[in-house]
Amino acid sequence: MRCYNLSDNKKILKDESQSLSNAARIKYFDLVIESGKGAILTDVDGKKYIDLLASASATNTGHSHPHIVDAITKQAQKLLQYTPAYFANVPAAKLSKRLTDLSPIEGPVKLAWGNSGSDANDALIKFARGYTGRSNVVSFTGAYHGSTYGSMSASAVSLNMSRKMGPLMDGFYKVPFPSPWYRRNYENEDEFIDRMFDEFKLPFETYVPADEVAVILVEPIQGDGGIVKAPTKYLEKVYQFAHEHGILFAVDEVNQGMGRTGKWWSIQNFPGLEPDLMSVGKSLASGLPLSAVIGKKEIMDSLSAPANVYTTAGNPVTTAASLATLDVIEDEHLLQRSHDLGLEAKKFFDEMHAKFDFVGDVRMYGLDGGIDIVNPKNQKADTDIATKLIYRMFELGVVMITVRGNILRFQPPLVITKEELHQAFDIMEQAMQDEEAGKIAFDAKIGWSAD
Ligand SMILES: Cc1ncc(COP(=O)(O)O)c(C=O)c1O
Repeated sequence: MRCYNLSDNKKILKDESQSLSNAARIKYFDLVIESGKGAILTDVDGKKYIDLLASASATNTGHSHPHIVDAITKQAQKLLQYTPAYFANVPAAKLSKRLTDLSPIEGPVKLAWGNSGSDANDALIKFARGYTGRSNVVSFTGAYHGSTYGSMSASAVSLNMSRKMGPLMDGFYKVPFPSPWYRRNYENEDEFIDRMFDEFKLPFETYVPADEVAVILVEPIQGDGGIVKAPTKYLEKVYQFAHEHGILFAVDEVNQGMGRTGKWWSIQNFPGLEPDLMSVGKSLASGLPLSAVIGKKEIMDSLSAPANVYTTAGNPVTTAASLATLDVIEDEHLLQRSHDLGLEAKKFFDEMHAKFDFVGDVRMYGLDGGIDIVNPKNQKADTDIATKLIYRMFELGVVMITVRGNILRFQPPLVITKEELHQAFDIMEQAMQDEEAGKIAFDAKIGWSAD
């Protein structure tokens, strides 16, 4: 047993690196978290940080919320685990009703439990294949659906997610996600949407018969793909195409659901689009391992047990945590809070865009932002500047990471106070000033694009 003193971030990491696989952490900063409260993290040195990552959008209700900790503690004292694969437990039974009622799907809805966003997406694929009797799955470039074979077969955001691990699953096809950086200078929004929809249709017209496709799976607002919303008209066209061809329309709400965008579900930012299936995880139980695939009753009843059971999925403690999480989101009006504070954040980043020529496009959907960092000379993605900025922010007491190398990922806990948010703005602006003045010396390769 090793003994650590405070001031041990680096020492703990060095020791841990002897035993932790390189595949298991995307390297950013030397940070070992000791505790968290609301939007504030404290490391093992006692240094405090404002958290703008919220455990990758898994702690929307903040760190160690007292109501949730209380629910977990009480349930742990009653029953820690009995597998829902065989017998029911009270919190999971209550949650299944509450969550299906909350879903954006009309009519009778059912769900099945999982332990992670990844296995929820695997389950989604199983149910889609089971219901339609078709095998193919269409998803989007830039998508992150998870790290199991099914979910990674549907993903396309990092070469390291498939490198040396293939072959991935058969029957998975990718179409380009209409991210704004693919728009050509001469195109207006409608022309861009038309071209992207033509590209969407191309596989269906040339080598993927639509009547053999079970499901189109999409993050309506991509998370790791850059916090970027599909244009509404584009997704409407995809939705209509799915309906015309008997293809299920499924949404991955693992990252963007649970109030992140100022609505319960990100698909609610697209009025009239109702998914057949959806996956939920991360903040569902405030970061405890719980996920769900939720869908129309007839789809969810198309498979029989044990088609999708896991010993610990729908565990009494995680589902009690989830019930308490839903209470907090409702009682503390976190959807409204995400919306309102998101407007303040948008205003701040727009000001930074006007002030610093390396701050490019600003996208904000509630407390959910992607801010492009670009080379001022050619407006192309600039990973080096983005890396220096987050490194300086970290030194100054803000935890923020990048996605796709050059995009600042802004996803604070939804309970962040106004004061904390404005402190974070001050620190971010300071980091940007330091970058402009050429004061940041950092050239290590970190993050998603490190290799
Ligand atoms: C959109 C999306 N889907 C699925 C997943 C996978 O979730 P998990 O890491 O809990 O397996 C993630 C994780 O980042 C995600 O962002």
